[in-house]
Amino acid sequence: MRKSRTLDRKSGSRPSSTISESLVSRTRTQVVIVGAGPAGLLLGQLLHRVGIDAVILERRSAEYVLGRIRAGVLEQGTVEVLDCAGASARLRKEGLIHDGVGIGFEGRRHRIALKQLVGKAVTVYGQTELTRDLMEARAASGCTSIYEAEDVALHGWGGASPKVTYRRNGATHEIACDFIAGCDGYHGVCRASIPADKSRVFEHVYPFGWLGVLADVPPPWSELVYANSERGFALASLRSPTRVRCYVQCSLDDRVENWSDTRFWDEFRRRIGEEVADRVVTAPSIEKSIAPLRSFVVEPLRFGRLFLAGDAAHIVPPTGAKGLNLAVSDVYYLHEALRDHYRDRSEIPLDEYSARCLRRIWKAERFSWWMTRQLHLFPGDAFARRMQVTELEYLFESAAAQASMAENYVGLPFEPAAASARTQVA
Ligand code: FAD
Ligand code: DHB
Repeated sequence: MRKSRTLDRKSGSRPSSTISESLVSRTRTQVVIVGAGPAGLLLGQLLHRVGIDAVILERRSAEYVLGRIRAGVLEQGTVEVLDCAGASARLRKEGLIHDGVGIGFEGRRHRIALKQLVGKAVTVYGQTELTRDLMEARAASGCTSIYEAEDVALHGWGGASPKVTYRRNGATHEIACDFIAGCDGYHGVCRASIPADKSRVFEHVYPFGWLGVLADVPPPWSELVYANSERGFALASLRSPTRVRCYVQCSLDDRVENWSDTRFWDEFRRRIGEEVADRVVTAPSIEKSIAPLRSFVVEPLRFGRLFLAGDAAHIVPPTGAKGLNLAVSDVYYLHEALRDHYRDRSEIPLDEYSARCLRRIWKAERFSWWMTRQLHLFPGDAFARRMQVTELEYLFESAAAQASMAENYVGLPFEPAAASARTQVA
């Protein structure tokens, strides 16, 4: 494994002309990872396990990253990747395995028996906990993560010698590398660095958002319930045996301040269906936030020596619980591509990265769009409502439709790496 080297200014090397003159340090690594969300942290861990050196640059503090409340449902494949990364001990102990999921419609709950239908389950484990586990694994491996890195900028990713600069405590630093991994989410700098004529964007914005509440109360439901109600969508989820996570569809211009805890729980009860509503125990919220819903994909995911992964490359509406899981499959594919590239000195695995990811991404986009269309209220669209009713009735009547939903919800299989498969066969 190559270790990061720090070249002091006094070493006589001049900074590149495009990089600030106030440069105080130069280092070198194999891969610079921008972003310490789940994608960046997991990629760092997977690369470390195959002997590839990487530095992670994150613009926020570690505490800020841990304070973001997001995903809660992990596919079986995601858990297996975390095993590979050596970061799954607590998840394996504390994660709640769910063999089924509920769909609420016209006041009734219909169970989709995931395990029975497709032989797989999902694991309920918060993104916050997963991020904490990955941060601890990285600290234990002694690899470098730089938090509060300001003004991260990419240089020369179209050629053979990319560099990344950033500022910290008023000083500018430069890291030379072989590759840059853009794991910096939807609002990051990596995708924004690509000229518009080099990529194609596909986007669909939904006319509503999700208002989410986290509360310390034992969940009165043992499996998630996604409810289609005439008042709008609601989701009953959980984080642990003592903590619930619930959502209601809200308008895009709504504000958290408009939603007292009492208003939230009243609305949630009216939407989630009698069976669950009667058992809801209200509790003060410990977090409340609104997220817009969007479908978004950029193509391709490789630009010279820059690779995009996770939310930097795609967004799904949260209804299918796919965002974090897709970030995990992207970085799993990327770590394989980099591993095979360094091992075989071949460009083929790098060339294949984008298409291999996109095949899985588009299937998750389709499923997330389908779940969102079937479960939310689209005011004023009577045709859409008839289609929803018909889709849901068909789902409840047809074992084949249920198996299709289950197959997608638990996560489609990972594709084998074509280049490494060829190498093994040869
Ligand atoms: P992020 O988590 O966004 O991490 C990117 C990191 O890059 C951040 O830490 C950011 O600070 C950093 N960064 C940004 N810009 C810069 C810069 N210029 N320089 C340096 N660092 C930078 N997914 C699921 O799979 N299941 C679910 O149940 C689920 N539920 C969700 C519920 C909600 C309400 C929301 C909002 C999302 C949900 N998701 C879910 C989606 C999931 O949270 C995201 O897909 C996931 O966080 C993506 O991880 P990431 O590492 O790619 O991006
Ligand atoms: C949660 C979020 C989701 O988007 C989802 O589909 C299921 C669960 C959650 O936060 O628990």
